[in-house]
Amino acid sequence: MKLSLRIWRQPDAQAEGKMVSYEIDEVSEDASFLEMLDVLNERLIGEGEDPVAFDHDCREGICGACSLVIDGQPHGPQAATTTCQLHMRKFKDGDKIDIEPWRAGAFPVIKDLVVDRSAFDRIIQAGGYISAPTGTAPDAHAVPIPKQDADAAFSAAACIGCGACVAACPNGSGMLFMGAKVAHLGLMPQGQPERHTRVLGMVAAHDDAGFGGCTNTGECAAACPKEIGLDVIGKLNRDFRKAAIRAA
Ligand code: SF4
Ligand code: FES
Repeated sequence: MKLSLRIWRQPDAQAEGKMVSYEIDEVSEDASFLEMLDVLNERLIGEGEDPVAFDHDCREGICGACSLVIDGQPHGPQAATTTCQLHMRKFKDGDKIDIEPWRAGAFPVIKDLVVDRSAFDRIIQAGGYISAPTGTAPDAHAVPIPKQDADAAFSAAACIGCGACVAACPNGSGMLFMGAKVAHLGLMPQGQPERHTRVLGMVAAHDDAGFGGCTNTGECAAACPKEIGLDVIGKLNRDFRKAAIRAA
């Protein structure tokens, strides 16, 4: 395939960025999207140019590092897929593809397509943990947990912290990410001791970091590669109201 790319280039956090055009040919439809960028970068390095900076790590849909807005969609055109799991067979010869970083006030651009997602770390530090000793795996299995709670907690725990939900949200809200963490931990008996301090701390860290509020557009869930549902935001809101009343 031959493709025309327009890629956001920004030398550093202070510089003004702009879209730069690149032509690339002989792209295999079996290549992943990131492998296609690897090929472009090898060419740029060979030509003595600065390669395009982008985040990646596992390339297996597990770590949440990859983070590209492709043709206006976080993680690109394939539903429930991370950028690293997107393959070039989703595109066709001659396509023009725009590639941008996550766009959100709480995720400032560091360079090109790399953004600073440490605001998510601060939310986790504010409550995304438990203090109860959980013992070994057999000990954990000895704790009876209703099947529907275990299933819901397991689904919420699938969140990989990629930030696509924030990039997709017109308000730049981190509520889906935060809801996933609150649901994952708050549905389990081991998560109860911090249940109320967790949600208060996380919401405060979320707001301090400059994430916006939720207005139920649902764009976050549509962009989520792990299919985290909007119900986790309902759980978060219920826990927050109870915790705020207790703290008053
Ligand atoms: S909720 Fe989904 S989109 Fe948001 S950080 Fe988690 S995995 Fe990524
Ligand atoms: S690089 Fe790890 S999820 Fe994409």
